[in-house]
Amino acid sequence: MDFLDKLVIPATTQHLSLLKIILIMSLLIFIPFYGMLVGGTAFSVIFNAYGRKIKNKLFIRFAKDIIDKLAINRFVGVGLGIIPLLSITFCYAQLLFEVKVIAVSLLFVATLFLALAVNFIYSYQSTFQIESLIETFKGISGLNKHELETKLPEEVSDYEFDLMNTNSNSGLYGFVLLLITGIFFTGGITIVQFSEKYQDFQNIAQIFLSGATFINFIMLLVLSAAVTGTAILFFFFSWQGGMHDMEKEYYNFVKKIGSNIAFTGAALTPVFLFISFFMMPNSALSGSVFMYTGLAFVSLLLLCNFLYAVIKNSDMKYIGAAFYFVILSCGFIIMKNQSAFGTASYKHLEAINLMAEELHKEKKGKTVNTEGVNGEEIFTKICSACHKFDVKLVGPPYQQTIPTYNGDVKKLQQFILNPVKKNPEYPPMPNPGLKPKEAAAVAQYLIDKIAGKK
Ligand code: HEC
Repeated sequence: MDFLDKLVIPATTQHLSLLKIILIMSLLIFIPFYGMLVGGTAFSVIFNAYGRKIKNKLFIRFAKDIIDKLAINRFVGVGLGIIPLLSITFCYAQLLFEVKVIAVSLLFVATLFLALAVNFIYSYQSTFQIESLIETFKGISGLNKHELETKLPEEVSDYEFDLMNTNSNSGLYGFVLLLITGIFFTGGITIVQFSEKYQDFQNIAQIFLSGATFINFIMLLVLSAAVTGTAILFFFFSWQGGMHDMEKEYYNFVKKIGSNIAFTGAALTPVFLFISFFMMPNSALSGSVFMYTGLAFVSLLLLCNFLYAVIKNSDMKYIGAAFYFVILSCGFIIMKNQSAFGTASYKHLEAINLMAEELHKEKKGKTVNTEGVNGEEIFTKICSACHKFDVKLVGPPYQQTIPTYNGDVKKLQQFILNPVKKNPEYPPMPNPGLKPKEAAAVAQYLIDKIAGKK
C-alpha cells in the first residue's frame, strides 16, 4: 500500500527498538483479545442458534453471558482490538519501509475487516439486552401467555421478530468477518518471516495457498480456543469472585463447556506450533526462535496441567493460574514470531537504519554535502588569521561563537558566505569570499571540532 509508505519515515536505531517494543505490546493485547472475541462469538452464535431451535434456556443464557463477558463492550472492542491492530500495521509499515512486500497491505485490510466485525458483534450483543428488556416488561405487565399474544400491539411482536433476525444474522456475520480478519492478519505476520521470498509474494491468492500461512492461521484458531475456554472459566468463576447467581445446573454446564474448549485448544496448539516451526525458512531461525518455541511448549503443557486439574478434580483455584499461563503462552508465541521476523529482516533493518540517519540529518537541515572539500585546510589558510578556538584574535574565539549555532551547519554556512554584524565589541568580519561548498566544509569542520569529534 503505497500511501502507507508515504506516511512513514524510516526509523533511526532508537526509534526502531521503540517500534519493536510497541509492536510486541500491541500484539500482546491484540492476540488474546482476538482469541476471546472470535471464540466468544463462535460459541455464542452456536449455542444461541441451537438453544433457540431446541428451546433450551440454558444454552441461550450461556450464549448471552459469553458474549457479554468475552466481548465486554464496544469501547473495549475498539481499544483492545482495532487500535492495537492499527498500531501493529503502522509498526510493520515503519519496519518494512520501502520493502516490496505486501504484508502491510494485508494487515491494513485485516484492520478494516476487524472494524466491520466489531460493529456486527456489538449489535449482536445488544440484541440480547433488548430482548431481556422486553422479557422484563412482559413479566411486570402481569399478563399471561395468551393475553400477551392477543393484547400486545402487533408492532411489538414484529419488532421482536426483527430483533431475533438481526440477532442471528449479525452474530454470524461478525464471526465470518473475524475469520477473514484472522486470515489477513496471519498472512501479514507470516510472510514477513520469509525474507528471500518477499518478491514472490505479490499475489494475495499465493499467500493464502502457502502452507505456512495456513498452519499459522489454524494455530491462531486453536490458540483462540484455548484463550476463549480459559477466559470463560476465568470470567465466570474467578474474576471478582465469580458470578454469584449461578444455579448448580448452570454452574456445572459452564464449567464443563469452558474447560473442554480450553483443554482442546491448549492441547492442539503445541501440535501446530511444532509444524509451523518446521515450516519456517532457515533464514528466520535463530537461538531465540528455538528458545521461545521451547518456552511456549512448556507454558502450554503447564496450562494443560492446570486445566486438567479443573476438569478432573473441580479444582477451581487453578483457574487463575490457567488464565495466566494462556496469556504467557500467547506471549512466547508472539516472541517466537518476532524473533523469526527479526532474524529474517536483520539486513534490511540495518539498511533502513543507515538510511534513516542520513534522512534524519537532512530533514533537520543541519548537514550539507561537503564531499571533496577539506574544511580544515580552509580554516588554516583563511580563518586562522583572525580566529583561534580558545582565545580572542581579531575575531571572537570559536569556543564562544560556534556553540550558538547548535550544530546547524546550514546556518553557519550562511554566516560565512555572508557575514553580518553581530557583536559590537568586534569590528565586522570581512567576507572571506568562499564558494558555498567550501563554506559548508569549514562550517562542518568547526562544528565537529567544537563537538569534539575531530
Ligand atoms: C579578517 C579577519 C577575519 C577573517 C579572515 C575571518 N573572520 Fe570570522 N570574524 C571576524 C570578526 C571581526 C568577527 C566578529 C564579527 C561580529 O561579531 O560582528 C568574526 C566573527 C566570526 C564568527 C562568529 C559569528 C557570530 O555568530 O557571532 C564566526 C563563526 C566566524 N567569524 C567564522 C569565520 C570563518 C569560518 C572564517 C574563515 C572562512 C572567518 N571567520 C574568517 C574576523 C575574521
